[in-house]
Amino acid sequence: MKIKFNDTATGDAIAAPVYSGSALSDAARALDGESGGAITRALKSSRFTGAPGQTLTLTSPAGMQASRIVLFGLGEKKALNGNALELAAAGVVKSLLTTGAEVLSLRLDGVADLEGSARAGLGARMAAYRFDKYRTRLSDDKKPSLHTVEIVVTDAKAAKKIWKDWEPVGDGVELARDLVNEAPNYLGPEQYARRVKKLEKLGLEIQVLGEAEMKKLGMNALLGVGQGSAQESQFIILKWMGGKEGDQPIAFVGKGVTFDTGGISLKPGEKMDEMKGDMGGSAAVVGLLTALAGRKAKANVIGVIGLVENMPDAKAQRPGDIVTSMSGQTIEILNTDAEGRLVLADALWYTQQEFKPKFMVDLATLTGAILIALGHEHAGIFSNDDRLADQLFKAGKASDEGVWRLPLGPEYDRQIDSDIADMKNIGQGRLAGSITAAQFLKRYTNNVPWCHIDIAGTGMHSGAKDPRLPTFGTGFGVRLLDRLVRDHYEA
Ligand code: BES
Ligand code: MN
Ligand code: ZN
Repeated sequence: MKIKFNDTATGDAIAAPVYSGSALSDAARALDGESGGAITRALKSSRFTGAPGQTLTLTSPAGMQASRIVLFGLGEKKALNGNALELAAAGVVKSLLTTGAEVLSLRLDGVADLEGSARAGLGARMAAYRFDKYRTRLSDDKKPSLHTVEIVVTDAKAAKKIWKDWEPVGDGVELARDLVNEAPNYLGPEQYARRVKKLEKLGLEIQVLGEAEMKKLGMNALLGVGQGSAQESQFIILKWMGGKEGDQPIAFVGKGVTFDTGGISLKPGEKMDEMKGDMGGSAAVVGLLTALAGRKAKANVIGVIGLVENMPDAKAQRPGDIVTSMSGQTIEILNTDAEGRLVLADALWYTQQEFKPKFMVDLATLTGAILIALGHEHAGIFSNDDRLADQLFKAGKASDEGVWRLPLGPEYDRQIDSDIADMKNIGQGRLAGSITAAQFLKRYTNNVPWCHIDIAGTGMHSGAKDPRLPTFGTGFGVRLLDRLVRDHYEA
């Protein structure tokens, strides 16, 4: 989708805002005049009230060049913010995508400030996203017709400039979605690493470690997970050094299980295909670094992703195996399906050891239990640092990628203590499953300020109602963490 900014509306579809109580914006009132009162009449005969998310389309309005007028609800004028504009733009785009409309003019003049107009652009991009690369027989009437969104603003030049700071966020979200949606036979660890390596063209520094190098570093927790796979596990470090030279970096770590069968502790078959998305944490890290490089963020940022495929095989890890992690701590593997924490154990330890970061944030589709607790609506966060947790909570509110904090505590340690090793990789039964997983990770942070984000629910979401979300891979985490960096960690 092409996003443009203009000071006049030239599209064949023109969308104008309406506030709660059917209060027309100036743009909507002007269109009502041009169309001889068509909008007033349409409002009378419909249930559209201007509530957020509502749209009402008038086709072929008399006396107008445009073939469509789309009214969209913005809710209460006082409550208008970037999230509302993002959502509204997404709703309009979604409603027009395959209708035959080609260019949408979204009237935000006199309504949105500069950042708001960019947020609308981001919403439009997110709603237009599709994963169509494997469709070879899509009939013409099912193909998207809308190819351009022209956002109408009072100062188009200034809006274009701000957009440079937001367009890369859209790029990052799209890349993260593409990676999550990709078929697992096209995105094993080695294929994934080749794709990431291509991002060097953005100015990122990218280092890929194979199994021999990981072995040397002692990453046996991570390596154990991948040992049943036909593809070599990969460990990737991405660097964006846009901050002051010598400034301590911040670090983002992602779980990249390219497919999680459960291993020898095999998962049941139902919906196992969704485990192609078990690399969603890593995808968010790659998407974030793409966004930061694209907008030349003034921050020193490290991304670390551990890529493995969890397969049952003659060489696969067994329940009962004991591995020595890079930290030196030993882990008794009691369930090979609790593999994400094993990957992150070595990735977190490596990250704090190698980069001495200000903080580490990890993202992982770590537990089914987080879906039970929070559904697809919030990600769970767990932290040893109240300030960082608070910053993330606020970034969640500002970006509309919500997070909710759950506790850690020594009282949960008992559940992961092992009889014969330093710890086991599962808790007792099913109680507090997301917390015991986080408590396990905490043992690999070496007390560096850290936050774990469990995105098992938010990273994958089939059938979401939010017009910004496609089926399945959401790209969750890119907007949230871009916001965190933007608001707190740029010079
Ligand atoms: N990748 C899964 C978690 C998951 C489940 C993500 C459903 C998205 C949707 C993870 O590796 C896993 O299998 N976790 C187990 C842990 C258990 C064995 C302690 C789980 O949640 O059941
Ligand atoms: Mn698993
Ligand atoms: Zn997993």
